[in-house]
Amino acid sequence: MNENHIYPIFDRMLQRSDREDLLKQKGMMIWFTGLSGSGKSTLAIALERELHQRGILCRILDGDNIRSGINNNLGFSNEDRIENIRRIAEVSKLFVDTGVVTLAAFISPTNDIRQLATNIIGREDFIEVFVDTPLSVCEERDVKGLYKKARAGEIKEFTGISSPFEAPENPDLSIDTSAQSLEESVKQLLAYILPKLNRN
Ligand code: ADX
Repeated sequence: MNENHIYPIFDRMLQRSDREDLLKQKGMMIWFTGLSGSGKSTLAIALERELHQRGILCRILDGDNIRSGINNNLGFSNEDRIENIRRIAEVSKLFVDTGVVTLAAFISPTNDIRQLATNIIGREDFIEVFVDTPLSVCEERDVKGLYKKARAGEIKEFTGISSPFEAPENPDLSIDTSAQSLEESVKQLLAYILPKLNRN
């Protein structure tokens, strides 16, 4: 009985372990969460470079890129943010299942939204990195000029200003990019992640 008339063929396809053997690595999700301007993308890009140099195949999924492609029909209401992260998590799951170390850099502002991503991807494959840079620093940086616009009321529902950001309760790692250098942060990430990939 199949009410949806959908018949997945996963059982006939090669398995994740076949692809991991081929690539000689493990698929893993590294999920960066934090305010706009906290340094998520910068950290993801620097980490990707280091992992790549060690022969590890990676893929970054980043807020502004995804929102101009697959999620270009979504805004910043809570409902749209949930759908944004749901799609990203489903896409990430495909990468992880391909054996790729997948780095996601999205605000993902609430516990519920991050829990949704964890549930889709699976806790055992999920490393949560809280980019815990204070709002005052993010606003001071204002790399994209968005905080200024949000304060002026030109952008509604802006995270940290007029839309909530809930700090993760039990992140695997916390990084305050205003308190340590990029090099130090990448070292911290590598020390945590490499053993989980069976690489030291
Ligand atoms: S999330 O909340 O749904 O996870 P996502 O990471 O995809 O957000 O996108 C955040 C980026 O969108 C920000 O870095 C910023 O450049 C841009 N942006 C535009 N409007 C908003 C807004 N209202 N709140 C937060 N970010 C916004």
